[in-house]
Parts: sequence; structure tokens; C-alpha cells
Amino acid sequence: MGILDRHKVLEKNATLLLVCSLAVVTVGGIVEIAPLFYLENTIEEVEGVRPYSPLELAGRDIYLREGCYVCHSQMIRPMRDEVERYGHYSLAAESMYDHPFQWGSKRTGPDLARVGGRYSDEWHVDHLADPQSVVPESVMPKYAFLLDAVIEPGHIADLMSVNAMVGVPYTEEMIASAEADFTVQVDPFGDSDGLLERYPGAQVRNFDGQPQLTEMDALIAYMQMLGTLVDFSTFTPDASR
Ligand code: HEC
Repeated sequence: MGILDRHKVLEKNATLLLVCSLAVVTVGGIVEIAPLFYLENTIEEVEGVRPYSPLELAGRDIYLREGCYVCHSQMIRPMRDEVERYGHYSLAAESMYDHPFQWGSKRTGPDLARVGGRYSDEWHVDHLADPQSVVPESVMPKYAFLLDAVIEPGHIADLMSVNAMVGVPYTEEMIASAEADFTVQVDPFGDSDGLLERYPGAQVRNFDGQPQLTEMDALIAYMQMLGTLVDFSTFTPDASR
């Protein structure tokens, strides 16, 4: 009996086919899923990726509150059109400290995973305050009120503690310095050594150009760091994993 003839037995017996299909799917499932329970981490660690600074984290919180994710994704797929438009495809490590992650698939507006550094702070202020003043055909809502929304750093330590609970490696020291780090990041004349030691590469400046520390500062600090932590001129994927 040839192998095809034997297969005929399966094809003619619905119950046997069902049982065998189930067996195949079960084995396949176990092979795929079981290792995940034993691996400590499925994310390849990448140099440069660090937890958000207190100001960036506050900006991210505003991004979530305002529902920016409803129109913007934050994941560049490894396909040619995406990579040519947005830059290097997103790495898992780049969103490892995001709770919840902002990958998404809805793109009424462009992907924002690498928007950091693409525009000036002034552009962001103008665009967020009145998107149509910069891109006349834009359907993005206006967020001018962020310029008047002064924020106090009081809640940032709690926000960081919550993130630490779900696995972001914020240390006691980082949480204790949260308020100071938060305010010094918008003060180009302040002593930001501690901030930069805890959050290498954090950008320090007055983001919205106003004297008060507002939600606009926090949101732009977050926008300007998105996708900038990994140096892709030296990055090589780890093929050993
Ligand atoms: C209703 C959908 C919608 C919402 C909500 C929305 N946007 Fe947009 N966004 C767009 C569209 C459409 C564009 C492209 C046209 C433009 O530049 O305004 C855009 C463009 C952008 C750009 C420029 C990206 C680039 O690469 O050119 C940034 C930055 C941005 N949005 C940030 C935000 C932030 C931050 C929020 C939340 C505070 C937000 N958007 C909310 C629709 C939206």
C-alpha cells in the first residue's frame, strides 16, 4: 500500500481524520507554547533602551489620556514601504517598558514610533495647538489647551511605582528623585547631571517655549524621544537567539 493509499483511509473516515488532526495541532501547539513558560525573557535586549524619564512618562500618560493611539500606531513593520517611510523597523525591545504598548494598527495619521527628532519643538507646538495651521488638510483635533495646562510633579513618583509593579526597572533612587528629575528636564540652566545619569540621552530643554511647565512640555518631550534610543548605525540583530 503506497503512502497516498494510506492517506485515503484518513480522508474517508471523518472521525479518524478529526482525531488525527487534533493530535497534530496539539503537538504543534505544545512545541510552540511550552518553551515560553521556561524562557525568562523573549525580548532581545538592545543597547540604549531605557525606562522613560519622569517627564517623558508624564507625556506618555497624556498621549494615552488624549487617545492619540486612536489615530496613530507606534510600530514600523519590517516591510519595504514602511521602512522607507518611517525608518528602521521597530524592535520588541523599543516598547519593552510600555504599559500598555502602543503598537496598534489604526493609522488615520502616520506611525509615530520614530517621530523623535523629525520635527522641531516649535513645529510640534504649532501642530498640536492647531494641526491645520501646518497641514491644512489634516483631520487631527486641536490640543491648544495643553499649553495652559500647568502640571505639578506630585503624581509622578506614584506613576513610576505603578510601572515598577508591572516590571519596569525603576529603582528606589529613580522614584525618590522623580520630582527633581521631572522639573530639571525642562530647565536648560538646571543641574541635570543626575537626570542624565539615570536616563542616558534624555533631552533637556524648554520644550514648549513658555516659562511654565505644562502638559505641552511633557507631551513634546515624549514625542521627541520616540524611536531615538537605539543607535541604528551600530545596531546588529543578535542572530544567536
Ligand atoms: C482623529 C485622528 C487623530 C488624532 C486623535 C490625533 N492625530 Fe496626530 N495626526 C493625524 C493625522 C491625519 C495626521 C497627518 C496630518 C498632520 O500632520 O496633521 C497627524 C499627524 C501627527 C503628527 C506628525 C507625524 C508625522 O510624521 O508627520 C504628530 C507628531 C501627531 N499627529 C501627534 C499626535 C498626538 C500627540 C496626538 C494626541 C494628543 C494626536 N496626534 C492625535 C490624526 C490624528
